Amino acid sequence: MRPKVTVVGGAGNVGATVGQYLVTKELADVVLIDILESVQHGKGLDLLQAGPILGYDCRISGAKDYKETAGSNIVVVTAGIARKPGMSRDDLLNTNAKIVGGVIDQIVVHSPNCILIVVSNPLDAMTQLAFRRSGFPRERVIGMAGALDSARFRAFIAQELRVSVENIHAFVLGGHGDTMVPLPRFSTVAGIPITELLAPDRIEALVKRTAGGGGEIVALLGTGSAYYAPAASVMEMVEAIMKDKKKILPCCVYLEGEYGIRGLCVGVPVKLGASGVEQIIEIRLTPAEASALSRSAAAVKELVEILKL
Ligand code: NAI
Ligand code: 2OP
Repeated sequence: MRPKVTVVGGAGNVGATVGQYLVTKELADVVLIDILESVQHGKGLDLLQAGPILGYDCRISGAKDYKETAGSNIVVVTAGIARKPGMSRDDLLNTNAKIVGGVIDQIVVHSPNCILIVVSNPLDAMTQLAFRRSGFPRERVIGMAGALDSARFRAFIAQELRVSVENIHAFVLGGHGDTMVPLPRFSTVAGIPITELLAPDRIEALVKRTAGGGGEIVALLGTGSAYYAPAASVMEMVEAIMKDKKKILPCCVYLEGEYGIRGLCVGVPVKLGASGVEQIIEIRLTPAEASALSRSAAAVKELVEILKL
């Protein structure tokens, strides 16, 4: 039997695109669940019918009733509202907290052993909400942001240096917001740190563009936020877990003293495998990097305190 992945908010831009990538890569059967009446069913059916051409046998369908999600191995939570021009991720806090809280209650009943991947914004606060509300161990509650932020950084570095994206690794720590902390020292091109290849002002420009990467797309789209790269980032995490790859990716997880942060969900490098987060990788930071990370964690804490988490 194939593994099963539920995508909550599956009629939406990120949700449906996650479904598309997962079946195209034949990673799992997919249920797209949403509160809408029919859109998720339409998208599920449309994607099912692409299978014979693209050559995938995975099943994908829409649902409104959580019974159809029962026994999922992984549940991806994309339910909620997205940013519009002029809005920050934090403006979504109260609306999305109500939505995500209700969604988690359903998931716990129907897929008590699943690994949760949270996508809804503001990401770090929603991950903390999912962690507290589900009662799951921290290994099974993972926020997606760092994979996306580092993909953006990688794309910009590749463009700047005119090299293959495949040569580039990049690291971004901290919360998924303007305070995120891209780390040039640990961002490499074929193993060479970008600090050896680019002038400081160019690195600064790429770091700034990465931190504002979500907002740049919101302004261009005009009606919502990014979804192709976010969905690809979710797919990368699902693949790492499904294939037990032990892949190191920056993810938002509940910290218990790592990096000097306790009781807060923040983005750090983790090893992803069949059990979810199998290790939190601690790297030594310079004083400047450490203080940027603690500023970022403080911004996450402000939101978490509003929600009393
Ligand atoms: P969207 O508006 O296209 O889709 C959201 C979907 O959630 C809609 O289909 C809606 O009907 C559904 N929904 C609302 N309440 C629900 C509920 N109670 N149960 C089930 N479904 C429900 O939005 P989009 O672009 O897909 O973004 C989704 C979320 O992901 C937003 O909060 C956005 O900010 C966030 N996001 C986070 C990223 C990250 O890096 N963590 C990247 C991109 C988006
Ligand atoms: C992004 O970074 C909106 O968080 C979303 O594109």
